[in-house]
Amino acid sequence: MIERLKNFQFRTRILSGLGAINALGELSKSMGAKKYLLVADPSLESHGILESARKSLRDSGLSGEISLKVEPEPYLDNADSAADIGRDIQADIVIGIGGGSAMDTAKAASALLTNPGKAEEYVGLNVVKHPGIPTIMIPTTSGTGSEVTFTAVFTNRQTKAKGGINSIYMFPNVALLDPELTFSLPPDITASTGMDALTHAIESVTSLSSTIFTESLSLTAVRLISTSLRRAVYRGNDINARENMLLGSLFGGLALADAGVGAAHALAYPLGGNYRIPHGLANAVLIPHVMEFNLPAAERTMALVAQSMGESVESLSMRWSAEAAVDSVRTLCDDIGIPAGLSELGVPMDDIPMLVEGALKVTRPVENNPRKLGPEEAALIYEAAF
Ligand SMILES: [Fe+2]
Repeated sequence: MIERLKNFQFRTRILSGLGAINALGELSKSMGAKKYLLVADPSLESHGILESARKSLRDSGLSGEISLKVEPEPYLDNADSAADIGRDIQADIVIGIGGGSAMDTAKAASALLTNPGKAEEYVGLNVVKHPGIPTIMIPTTSGTGSEVTFTAVFTNRQTKAKGGINSIYMFPNVALLDPELTFSLPPDITASTGMDALTHAIESVTSLSSTIFTESLSLTAVRLISTSLRRAVYRGNDINARENMLLGSLFGGLALADAGVGAAHALAYPLGGNYRIPHGLANAVLIPHVMEFNLPAAERTMALVAQSMGESVESLSMRWSAEAAVDSVRTLCDDIGIPAGLSELGVPMDDIPMLVEGALKVTRPVENNPRKLGPEEAALIYEAAF
């Protein structure tokens, strides 16, 4: 019975503002922590961000260790390695700093500190049985929304398959947003991670599991991202644009946590697993084609997307408004330098049957897509995206 009811749950405290990183120590202390495990993106190793975090923790009397074993499109054993360090030092808080990879690894490490065994045993929905230790997530990209979701996505090193550890116990306790941490993000990463966030917003609003709760979050995310992404790409230290991108990414994350995503994500997963194409880039290349495919089945919601993107649709029919959304997303991709197709990313066209097989295994996004996605349809979208 419960499964049939409209559901919206949200468990993460959000703290946001310029210089928020300097409140990390005080915040951790207020949560009763003494020993931290900090899971960070290795690219931050020589970056001031990590030092600011450590200083803040030190100043509040906390000690701890850092795990930098986070690979892009992280492997399940990255979470095991982080959890090993946490266990050794008896960590009582896990802090994730970085993009989705670091935050997902941190969330899984927290769960592994109170649940026995290895990360691979927890792939699936609600396999995690006990709450992890408290977590604080600090995003340094604006894309995944991982700081507020109950999902952590990993690649299996042996099978190359991507899969999520999804559990209500994976919701972070706190999301700490500091726009300054995203100032130095290079334009190409700002573009691809920003398009991941926009894809979350669009796919969650067209999702068959979308509700009135998630729709308003998705459309706010579309508005924030589409008015700010170009500025964030071309003027990295634009405070307003960077703050809007962080919030847009977070709103998209909140929406997708309940409404799920769709075909672009399903089709993007095997591109990440097989060729290590960054998740945001794969989504960015696919989303205009997926929108075109979905258009007849999602006219109303795509018309709302066009409106939220600032298209003047007042005098247009719903159909034309929905088409304006596709054009608007295409123009945005061009403006921020997203590659035109999968061939530019080095994907061999002969691999389409293998990719289709991989994509259709990503069941939740396939089921949530507004238009039925079978093998033929998936192959057509991949072909169009070459
Ligand atoms: Fe995504």
